[in-house]
Amino acid sequence: MTQILFLSTSLHSDAASSSQLATQFIEAWQGRHGPATVVHRDLASQPVPHLTADRFAAFAVPADDRTPEQAADVALSDALIAELRAADVLVIALPMYNFGIPSTLKAYIDHVARAGITFRYTENGPVGLLPVRKAFVIATRGGRYVGTPRDTQTPYIREFLNFVGIDAVEFAYAEGMAMGPDGRDAALRSARESIAELAA
Ligand SMILES: Cc1cc2nc3c(=O)[nH]c(=O)nc-3n(C[C@H](O)[C@H](O)[C@H](O)COP(=O)(O)O)c2cc1C
Repeated sequence: MTQILFLSTSLHSDAASSSQLATQFIEAWQGRHGPATVVHRDLASQPVPHLTADRFAAFAVPADDRTPEQAADVALSDALIAELRAADVLVIALPMYNFGIPSTLKAYIDHVARAGITFRYTENGPVGLLPVRKAFVIATRGGRYVGTPRDTQTPYIREFLNFVGIDAVEFAYAEGMAMGPDGRDAALRSARESIAELAA
């Protein structure tokens, strides 16, 4: 059965608009493509720690030489990567925080970007090693940024996912969520339309 990994990244977990829209997307996707196993990782309630020098160094220590602390650090990264590698489809619920991605997601990215495991460098540049077929990003923002240089999220997320081998990346946006009740309604309506199109 197809496996979907659902990463929710908002401070507000299941109550977040991004999480709720992503859930609607996953339901719509299953309506079109058939039932899937959904693995939900909520990065607010299960936060990944910041990458530190010690954690980063642990990734390079051969398994037999690791201290118990290094083994635990690597085990977390390995588990996150195994979960991601097992996914056919990745769905990310992505609010904009202070003009960027939530720090929960950045910490996650810092633990799944592992040289020789999720990417490697060759004479012709980097090669991604993850077999995930497709990623869908459901982005919520208080303001409106799509198509402007202030949309730092779209190129960053696309670049990172491409880097680890996930080439097909699609976005749906709810923009203007903080621009009054009418702006919020319009944002949600537009996002739901995009979600229906992406799910098809
Ligand atoms: C800490 C914080 C920082 C935010 N920074 C921005 C921002 O830089 N630009 C923006 O458009 N909206 C910003 N917002 C508004 C959120 O992006 C918006 O409310 C979004 O709908 C939240 O999605 P969520 O319900 O999935 O968490 C911020 C919200 C919070 C809580």
